[in-house]
Amino acid sequence: VLPDEGEVERRARLIAGALGRMGLTAFEPGDRDLVLGPALLRRVLADAKVPTVSANLYDQKGARLFDADRLVDAAGVKVGIFGVIGPASADDAALWKTWGLEARDPAAAARAEVASLRARGAQIVVALVHVGLRDVSKKLLDEVPGIDWAVLGHSGLNIETPEPAGGARMLEAMTMGKHVGRLDLHVVDGDARQFVDRGHRAQVATILADHQRQIADFRTRAVEAPQPSMRQYFEGRVAELERAIARETAELRALPAEVKQSWFDNRIIPLDTATADHPAVAMQVAAYNAENARRAAAGKPVGFSGVSAHGTPAPAPGATPPDQIRFAGTVACGSCHQAALKLWQTTRHAHALDSLKKVKRDHDPTCVGCHVTGFLRPGGTTDLAVATGRLRDVGCEACHGPGVDHLTAADKRGSITRQVGESVCRGCHTADQTNGDFSYPAFVKAVLGPGHGGA
Ligand code: HEC
Ligand code: HEC
Ligand code: HEC
Ligand code: HEC
Repeated sequence: VLPDEGEVERRARLIAGALGRMGLTAFEPGDRDLVLGPALLRRVLADAKVPTVSANLYDQKGARLFDADRLVDAAGVKVGIFGVIGPASADDAALWKTWGLEARDPAAAARAEVASLRARGAQIVVALVHVGLRDVSKKLLDEVPGIDWAVLGHSGLNIETPEPAGGARMLEAMTMGKHVGRLDLHVVDGDARQFVDRGHRAQVATILADHQRQIADFRTRAVEAPQPSMRQYFEGRVAELERAIARETAELRALPAEVKQSWFDNRIIPLDTATADHPAVAMQVAAYNAENARRAAAGKPVGFSGVSAHGTPAPAPGATPPDQIRFAGTVACGSCHQAALKLWQTTRHAHALDSLKKVKRDHDPTCVGCHVTGFLRPGGTTDLAVATGRLRDVGCEACHGPGVDHLTAADKRGSITRQVGESVCRGCHTADQTNGDFSYPAFVKAVLGPGHGGA
C-alpha cells in the first residue's frame, strides 16, 4: 500500500515531464516504473509525450503495452532502437499478475527485433536491456547476434569502457540520476559496424605519463630513504612501475596515432552542481517542491517511500498525529547524553539536512528519508515539516531506533537498542549512494569516540 491521495501520480508526472523535455528518442520503462501499473504508466508517459519502447511487455489482452521499437535517421545513418525487460521480481510478481502484465521471453523478442529492424534498413541496432544484473544481460547478448550497442539499466554500474558481449558492446550509467552516459558514434565512409575506441589511446597515454611521474618520485625516495627496509620497498615499487611502463609503451606503439575509421567515444558525466539545470525542468521541480511544502504545512501526506515498491511496508496515509510519533529528536537525547551529543555534532550526520539544502532538495521526499531521522519509518512521521524540523539530520535515533519510551522509562538500561549493527547503516549507506565504498569496521570508528561508545 502506497500512501497516496494522488501523491504517486504527482511524482510520476514530475519524472515523466522531465523525460519528455529531455527530447528523448526512446525510453524503456523498468521494473520501478511498472509499479505504477500499466494504465497509469501509459497515461503519464503519453501525456508527457515520452516516446516509449518495449518489445516484450504485454497487457491482459495480449497486446503490446508500448511500441516495440523506433527507427530513426541520425545524420543520414539509420538507427533502430528497441527495448526488452526481464520477468517480474518475486516482490512484483503478484502485482503484475493482478494487472495481467506479462514480460515474454526477452531473447526471442530481441531476435525478432534485430531481424525486423535490419529488414527495415537499420545500419546500427541499439538494444535497451533491462533484464537484470550485468551477467544476465551478457548472457542475453551472447544468445542474440546482430545487436551493436546495448544500454543496460538495472545493475547500478558505471561502465566507462564499453564491454564486449556477443557481437555487441554494453554500456551503463549509474542509477538515481547521478550520472548520464554519453556515447558518441562517428561513422566514417559509411561503415556503421566497426568502431574503434578513440578515447583508448588518450587513456593509455595518460596512465603512462602518470607512471613516469611516479617512478621518478620513487627513485628519489629509494635513494633518500634512511632505513634499508624503506629503501627496499621503494626499489620494489620502481621495478613494478618499470614493468607497467614497458607494457604501456608497447600498447601505445601498437595503437594507431590517428584514427581513420569509424570511431566511438563513451563518457560517464556526473550530474553535480557544475551541470546546469534545464530551465523548464527546474521550474517544474520548484513547483513540485512548493506543493510539498504546502501539503506538509496542511498536514497532508507528501510523496511516498521509494523503497515501499520493493517490499518494505510504508506507513498508512495521513500525517502521523504528533502524540503517536515514537521518535524524540536528538535535542531530547542530548539533555542527558551530553558527551555523546558533542561527539555526534562533529560528524557529518549532524549536517545531513544542510547537504540537501545546498542542492535545494530538502523538501524532496525521495531524498529526505536518509538525511533525517524516522521519516516514513515505523513509529516515525509522514510529515515532512516534522522530519525536517524536530527530526532533522541523521540523529541518535536513526541508529538506536525510536527513543520516546526510553525517555520515560524508570530503568534506562534495556529500554532502547544499544547495539547498532551493520544492517542499520546499510539502510542508508546503500551501494548506489556510496559507490560501494561503505565499510562497517572503518566507518563505525568515525561515529564512536570519547563519550559515545569508546575511547
Ligand atoms: C533523562 C535522561 C536521558 C535521556 C533524555 C536519554 N537517555 Fe539514554 N540513557 C540514560 C541513562 C541514565 C542510561 C543508562 C546509562 C548507563 O547505565 O550506563 C541510558 C542509556 C542509553 C543507551 C544504552 C542502553 C543500554 O541498554 O545500554 C542508549 C543507546 C541511549 N541511552 C540512547 C538514548 C537516546 C537515543 C536518547 C534520545 C531519544 C536518550 N538516550 C535519551 C538517560 C537518558
Ligand atoms: C538515516 C540514514 C543513515 C544511517 C542509519 C547511517 N548513516 Fe551514515 N550517513 C548518512 C548520510 C546522509 C551521510 C552524509 C551526511 C552529509 O554529509 O550530508 C552519512 C555520512 C556518514 C559518514 C561520513 C562519511 C564521510 O565520507 O565522511 C560516516 C563515517 C557514516 N555516515 C557512518 C555510519 C555508520 C557507521 C552507520 C551505522 C552505525 C551509519 N552511518 C548510519 C546517513 C545514514
Ligand atoms: C538510501 C539513502 C539515501 C537517499 C535516498 C539519498 N541519500 Fe544523499 N547520502 C546518503 C549517504 C549514505 C551519503 C553519504 C555518502 C558518503 O559520503 O559515504 C549521502 C550524501 C549526500 C550528499 C553529500 C555528498 C558530499 O559528498 O558532500 C548530498 C549532497 C546528498 N547525499 C544529496 C542527496 C539528494 C539530492 C538525494 C535525493 C535525490 C539523496 N541524497 C538521497 C544517503 C542517501
Ligand atoms: C551512526 C549511528 C549512530 C548514531 C547517529 C548515534 N549512535 Fe550511539 N552508538 C552507535 C554505535 C555503533 C554504538 C556502539 C554500540 C556497542 O557496540 O555497544 C553506540 C553506542 C551508544 C551508547 C552506549 C555506549 C555509551 O557510550 O554509553 C549510547 C548511550 C549512545 N550510543 C547514545 C547515542 C546518542 C545520545 C546519540 C545522539 C547524540 C547517538 N548515540 C548517536 C551508533 C550511533
